[in-house]
Parts: sequence; structure tokens; C-alpha cells
Amino acid sequence: MRLTINGTPRTYDGDPNQPLLWFLRDDLQLTGTKFGCGIAACGACTVHVDGSAMMACVTPMAALEGKSVTTIEGLSAAGDHPVQKAWAGANVPQCGYCQSGQMMAAAALLRQKPTPTDADIDGAMAMNICRCGTYARIREAIKAAAAMPASSTGGR
Ligand code: FES
Ligand code: FES
Repeated sequence: MRLTINGTPRTYDGDPNQPLLWFLRDDLQLTGTKFGCGIAACGACTVHVDGSAMMACVTPMAALEGKSVTTIEGLSAAGDHPVQKAWAGANVPQCGYCQSGQMMAAAALLRQKPTPTDADIDGAMAMNICRCGTYARIREAIKAAAAMPASSTGGR
């Protein structure tokens, strides 16, 4: 099967039931996407599939024929996506383990809703757990990213 990962065409001929997360981490060494629970209960493995947030730990490779996957490594070429800039500006991470998933969920939200309400943020981020409790800074950073000029929002 063929798919695209961070803009690069890839082929896969392994077990169609293998979760995307293992392909990313073990085959491609894209280790920014984290394993947390493996059962779609924490959001640490959040990536984009055709622009929408998906949990890589429960997305089988068979579902990805012809799809475009973006990981935290591919969110922007220079690490300057508005979400990444806002995360740095608000000093969001604590241990950091959940944060690539948090940023991917936030970037997908802003792509769909450039000026999200608190309810939008709550809904989009509900599946992303942070054991360090950085939720207030995550909310602050999402609002900061949403307020950045349109010219800086490329790559969402
Ligand atoms: S590792 Fe995928 S949701 Fe927890
Ligand atoms: S920053 Fe530690 S789990 Fe979120």
C-alpha cells in the first residue's frame, strides 16, 4: 500500500492490522509521536490523517491507503507553526510526554476552527490527557495561536 508521511511518499507491505504508531516509531524512527495507553484513551499518539486528528495507536495501516499522515515532525518545516510558537511562548510543557499529541490536536482544531470558543477547545482537547496538569497553559496557548496573524498560520 501507498501513503504519504510528512509529505514523503511511503510504501508499506506489512501486517495490515498493525497500528500506524508502530510504523511511525519503529520503521520510520519518527519518535515524536508517543505511546501512552495503546487503547485510544490518552491522546499521546495524536497525528493528522488528511488534516484531521487521529490516534495512531488504534489506526490500522489498512485504513491509510492513499492517505496523508502528518506527525509532529512534519507540522512545520522550521518548527514555527503557530501552535509550536504559542506553546513555547506560554511555557506549556512540564514533563513533555503528552505535548506532541496536545499540539497535533490543537493544530487540527485551529485548522477547522481558526477562532475556537472555550467549548470548542474543551471538545477538541477532551481526549488528550496531561498527567502533569498543564491544561490551563494549553488553553492559553491555543488562544495565543489563534490570535497570531494569518500570514503566520501556514501549514495548519
Ligand atoms: S497511546 Fe494512543 S491514545 Fe494513548
Ligand atoms: S506535560 Fe507531562 S504529561 Fe503532559
